[in-house]
Amino acid sequence: MTDQSYDLIVIGGGAIGLSTAWSAARRGWRTLVLEKYGVLNDDGSSAGASRQFRLQYAQEYMAELSLASQTFWAELQGYTQKTLIRQNGSLWFGDPDLDSQEGGIAAAEKVMDTLHIPYTKLTAAEIEARFPFRNLPKDYEGFFQASGGIIDLKATEEAALDAALASGFVDIHEWEPVTDMAESGTGVTVFTPEGRYHGARLAICAGAYVNDMLRPLGLSLGIDIWQMSSAYFALTAPASHLPTWFVFQNPSSSALFYGFPEVDWAHPGYARVATDFPDKILTDPSQRSFAPSPQSLKLDAQWVKDHMTGLDPTPRFTSTCLIALAKDASRELLLDYTPAWGSPHSNIVTYTAGWAGKYIPILGDMIVRMLSAPETELTYGDYTIPLDKFAIDWTQAQ
Ligand code: BEZ
Repeated sequence: MTDQSYDLIVIGGGAIGLSTAWSAARRGWRTLVLEKYGVLNDDGSSAGASRQFRLQYAQEYMAELSLASQTFWAELQGYTQKTLIRQNGSLWFGDPDLDSQEGGIAAAEKVMDTLHIPYTKLTAAEIEARFPFRNLPKDYEGFFQASGGIIDLKATEEAALDAALASGFVDIHEWEPVTDMAESGTGVTVFTPEGRYHGARLAICAGAYVNDMLRPLGLSLGIDIWQMSSAYFALTAPASHLPTWFVFQNPSSSALFYGFPEVDWAHPGYARVATDFPDKILTDPSQRSFAPSPQSLKLDAQWVKDHMTGLDPTPRFTSTCLIALAKDASRELLLDYTPAWGSPHSNIVTYTAGWAGKYIPILGDMIVRMLSAPETELTYGDYTIPLDKFAIDWTQAQ
């Protein structure tokens, strides 16, 4: 049976776990990543081919985190010849006063003004003239922010994986589930069917599977796991100026959609359009279906038919993904120290929930900095990110 020691054990080999391993390796920490499936799998929050990158947020600290992440994206880009973010801009439009999970147009404009992030305000007519949308309600408004784009998710994970492995400091163990954990004198002992590993520090990056990993610590978190559907639609005209986009509409429970331009890494000849509402909200990933909800696909296709030009409205290459979200919608991400076995532990950090694709390379750094020394905020150049905004309400979790 294996019995080895590491400076850091990372549970979860998805995008954030791999980014954490890369960041730890840059500090020379001997790091073990334990992944219960294979890396680059589609079983959790890292499912699918693309994510949106955007700077605009309703909260200043989130926009600042996006700005700060750009340096980390540039560094990760150095590990691959594939383009990690295709910067074709981000278009937000719809009812300007509507608030949603993504924050709302007016609030994001205010933050961009404060942070001097450039953007162009657009009327419905201007949006239809510049981009392949049609029949928009006349009072819709929006903006185009040129730094936004489409993230090649699998290339990002591959780059983090390569960077971690190239360091020589990281071991990745796939198909090795964690079966138990125990406190030890100088850290945490993690048990798997292969043996046991001792980590001076522990990063729990298990996404939607977080509760499986908190249970051995005597904790259980109330998170919502959204099962979401998405589809691709065939281009019927030469690829048009489609940026990544998001439409805010009422009723927000079934009229939020987002989409992407055509990319060469996923179904060339098609563009992805997805619903930004859950098929269903799960309490455990085992409840997940890989078949999208027919109702979500119908709404998605109807939006394409009514409001997009140059796309055939038949949903193709449909899929579902899981995204863990905080029950308290004001928490954009859940990232915190972990009160394991009833007492505070600054050597155990849990990251679980949020729309975190755009933060992949910086989140690993945040986790590693938190594990290096107890922190209440993290400074990146001009930006100081308050960690209490991501705090987990552990009082509800025991
Ligand atoms: C985001 O940018 O955070 C996002 C985009 C589309 C769907 C959900 C989230």
